[in-house]
Amino acid sequence: MRRALTSVLGAATLLLAGLVAGAPPAAAASTLKDAAAATGRVFGTAAAQSHMGESAYVNTLNREFNQLTPENEMKWETTEPSRDSFDYSAADQLVQHARSQGMEVRGHTLVWHSQLPSWVEGISSRTELLEVMRNHIANVAGHFRGDLTTWDVVNEAFEDGTGARRDTVFQRVIGDGYIEEAFRAARAADPTAKLCYNDYNIDGRNAKSDAVYAMVQDFKRRGVPIDCVGLQGHLIVGSVPGDVQANIQRFADLGVDVYITELDIRMQTPPNSQKLAQQAADYRSVVSACVAVTRCKGITVWGITDKYSWIPDVFEGEGAALLFDDNYNKKPAYDASLEALGGDPGDPGDPGDPGDGDVTCTYTRTSQWNNGFNGQVTITAGSSAVSSWTAVLTMRSGQSIQALWNGTPSTSGSVVTVKPAGWNANIPAGASASFGFTASAPNGDVSDPGLACGTP
Ligand code: G3I
Repeated sequence: MRRALTSVLGAATLLLAGLVAGAPPAAAASTLKDAAAATGRVFGTAAAQSHMGESAYVNTLNREFNQLTPENEMKWETTEPSRDSFDYSAADQLVQHARSQGMEVRGHTLVWHSQLPSWVEGISSRTELLEVMRNHIANVAGHFRGDLTTWDVVNEAFEDGTGARRDTVFQRVIGDGYIEEAFRAARAADPTAKLCYNDYNIDGRNAKSDAVYAMVQDFKRRGVPIDCVGLQGHLIVGSVPGDVQANIQRFADLGVDVYITELDIRMQTPPNSQKLAQQAADYRSVVSACVAVTRCKGITVWGITDKYSWIPDVFEGEGAALLFDDNYNKKPAYDASLEALGGDPGDPGDPGDPGDGDVTCTYTRTSQWNNGFNGQVTITAGSSAVSSWTAVLTMRSGQSIQALWNGTPSTSGSVVTVKPAGWNANIPAGASASFGFTASAPNGDVSDPGLACGTP
């Protein structure tokens, strides 16, 4: 299918720029990193030093990403495998590569119960473990001081379901205070890195994200140094929470930055076109949720290619969770992510491409009241007729569509994809079709939804 979606805002900006400067409009970004950079964000990936000898791996990394997270190389078992004996060789190589490409590096991770050497697991004295944890952080964060923009200081300290503290050696031996001790030690070792708490299944609102929220709120009140929260984003096709944007916003409102740190959206393998289309809608919804919140500063996918993803090793029969397939081909989720960042995959039919057969679209709010509004979207064909069209609305925090006419909607999180009603699929050259909807906005935010459109 042609995934030719152009943001109406982007198109308007380009048109204006062209008129004012008298120059042809600049092309929309065609890589993830350029599109993200145009929004002031990074688009990153986890990378493993062990794959850096593979040219397709490195070429894709360099072409698409402006941020790198070492997948395993900065973890405790690698950096301090035996007490007071530190090894940074693999991580240093990744940092060096990132620097040579102008990529930011996210440090992952200082304190985590997994990939923790057994000598740490065996410590039972509070004083000793506190000293060991502080020493680890001082050395590791000290070594990379100045090289990293962010550190995942503490990883996965809460339980799913209940939001209770996870039963780890740090929790058992040091107690609740170990997390703030780790953040204080990290700030002392590297005052330049932003310090994040990072966890999975905290992408939407639930008991676990509520517990993390309460911790961050408490830290901010008491002056414990914390700058950001990482929502890992290990998600399942068709089951992306609908409130990711609202959840990001509530953390941002506490005065911390938010990152999507380990995004992958897995499916039962093998993939087929229907699953890949749903996955594309799911990526679009998560990326759009980040782009909609000013303090959501970046998105990192947990690997470049499906070939090396951790998923099939852990979830039997599942995989295909990333943006590039085993052969480094772009998947539909790639185009959806690029479009959600305001970029343009450059499919045939895009505006400016030869043989234009595309559409543009405009949004009008036709009426509004305290907690809702009516909107109309008009889709206009260019110099050639089109036989179908797609419009994508990205609803603002709390907004949802209650009714829609003259179109066929499908919803994934905050993203509503609208296809023709049937009879209005064909649009002659230069003519228009439109659909209307009623949206509720319980929190009073009646601002315009995001809009993009194209030919399917
Ligand atoms: O290094 C050994 C190698 O010597 C050995 O031959 C091989 C045999 O299995 O294992 C290698 O270690 C593996 C290691 O990755 C490096 O490839 C481990 O078995 C494997 O368990 C380990 O998995 C990593 C996993 O964290 C461990 O929990 C994944 O690569 C990594 O993607 C994953 O990342 C985590 C994040 O850090 C935190 N959030 C969840 C995410 C997914 O689990």
